[in-house]
Amino acid sequence: MVFKINVNGKSQNVDVEEGTPLLWALRDGLGILGPKFGCGVGQCGACTVHVDGQPVRSCSLPIEAVGAGKVVTIEGIGATANGKKIQAAWTELDVAQCGYCQPGQIMSATALLNATPKPADADIDAAMSGNICRCATYIRIRAAIKQASG
Ligand code: FES
Repeated sequence: MVFKINVNGKSQNVDVEEGTPLLWALRDGLGILGPKFGCGVGQCGACTVHVDGQPVRSCSLPIEAVGAGKVVTIEGIGATANGKKIQAAWTELDVAQCGYCQPGQIMSATALLNATPKPADADIDAAMSGNICRCATYIRIRAAIKQASG
């Protein structure tokens, strides 16, 4: 079935089965490979994208639930003011180790800055607790968020 979704400012048709998670519509249907598959059950955050500015786990969101929502992925977040600041801080502080979870980390961090421009440590911990990093880059993630918000 063909669904029309808006991704990174572009309206696109994607031909997938009903019930397909947004993650697979993006990756397999549209070739947008930034959002990653980690757990598939909403627990790790690797698949995080924004829908209408809110961070969502795309592995757990059926394509029909997106509707007219505006989807932004790691490929598009750099075009936003906070996304650009977060990505610059990530690069300057060399946050990534293996890098696999980092698109999701950056999407959650950008949503945090959008909601809370000067987050305290507790805000950062609360906003980022759903994003798992097996390389344990958490200290650099927190530092980068602080730098981007400074
Ligand atoms: Fe979606 Fe883990 S792959 S939360």
